[in-house]
Amino acid sequence: MITRRTFMNQSVLATCALALPRVLAAAESNTNIDGANSLQAHAHKRGLLAGCAVGAANLKDDAFTSVLAAQFGLVVAENAMKFGPIKPKPDTYFFDDADALVNFAHQHNIKVRGHNFVWHEQLPTWFKDVATKDNARKILTDHIMTVGGRYKGKMQSWDVVNEAIQVSDGRPDGLRKSPWLELIGPDYLEIAFHTAHQADPKARLTYNEYGIENDGTDDVAKCAATLDLLKRLKAANVPLHALGIQSHINVGESWGKGLRELIDGAKALGLEVYLTELDVNDKTVKETDVAAPADLADIDRIVAGVYTSYLSVALESKAVKSVLTWGLTDAHTWLAGFMRPHTTDDKQPPRPPQRPLPFDPDLKPAPAFFAMRDVFDKAPHR
Ligand code: XIL
Repeated sequence: MITRRTFMNQSVLATCALALPRVLAAAESNTNIDGANSLQAHAHKRGLLAGCAVGAANLKDDAFTSVLAAQFGLVVAENAMKFGPIKPKPDTYFFDDADALVNFAHQHNIKVRGHNFVWHEQLPTWFKDVATKDNARKILTDHIMTVGGRYKGKMQSWDVVNEAIQVSDGRPDGLRKSPWLELIGPDYLEIAFHTAHQADPKARLTYNEYGIENDGTDDVAKCAATLDLLKRLKAANVPLHALGIQSHINVGESWGKGLRELIDGAKALGLEVYLTELDVNDKTVKETDVAAPADLADIDRIVAGVYTSYLSVALESKAVKSVLTWGLTDAHTWLAGFMRPHTTDDKQPPRPPQRPLPFDPDLKPAPAFFAMRDVFDKAPHR
């Protein structure tokens, strides 16, 4: 049966037959993404690092690692260096996965970010039974000295504290009522940064946060609270070198004033800025925006447009030194597990999987890949 689409494809092919060599040449240049055409090569020309988060299982997949090594200049462990995974028992560390990533990066001349020392999530299961107001400070500093010390001199940067602001918790300082705050008090941030500096004096120490990027009211309030925190830390001579803007963004958001104020605010404090966890959630793509809900080409085009508009604003500033996506291929994205919109309306067709990353599930470059490269090309040199 000839559907409308196959008919269209056949007639396009027939029309193009005469011009085939040119078409092939264009297609080849489009798919040759290695060497000077890689993401990292284009980033490097502008003084940027292009990176991505890597799951432990990804490193056992040869097809994955060859793309990783060819395209990126910076990696971060998606989970392996977090407190829970790396210290599963009060007296036992598990370094295998984190070591594997650091060794892989070293072999391929790729830099490594550490993520993260202090967070309210992915704490070890033993933490709530063992940690008390008396021992929490020692648990914190032992952990940072042990993990930071193990990779001393090998890390480009460390996320020392992740997601410490939660305005809705109601504290005047904007701090989240996290287990660390409840056990140690607001000083836990300063303690963590000083200890991290002691453990690995050369790593760029980073404060990493989400929900601070867009022009909506919540993000604007959280952005202000985050800048206030960074200001307090700098005023107290805390070794803090960079702001990590996670950049988990959504189709339909807008960026401009808020993002510029955030980046300029960090820069005014003498900080570098890293975009640390970029991905584009397409859950808000409207049915009317796509030919059919399962039309992945349409969704990819929309997602790539979001990459372009977000990165165009962010990379205006020379303070931004690196761009990392939270994963490499759509085959492995945390959004698949966490944020799929589920409909209770049976009449709605099921939505296709999320397409948030620069490579498709077959490890082919997606439109977002080319969008990133183009924005790098247009960015000012830093
Ligand atoms: C996510 C990982 O991608 C998941 O595999 C894990 O189950 C939960 O954490 N902000 C962060 C990251 O700082 O550490 C989170 O990573 C995503 C949100």
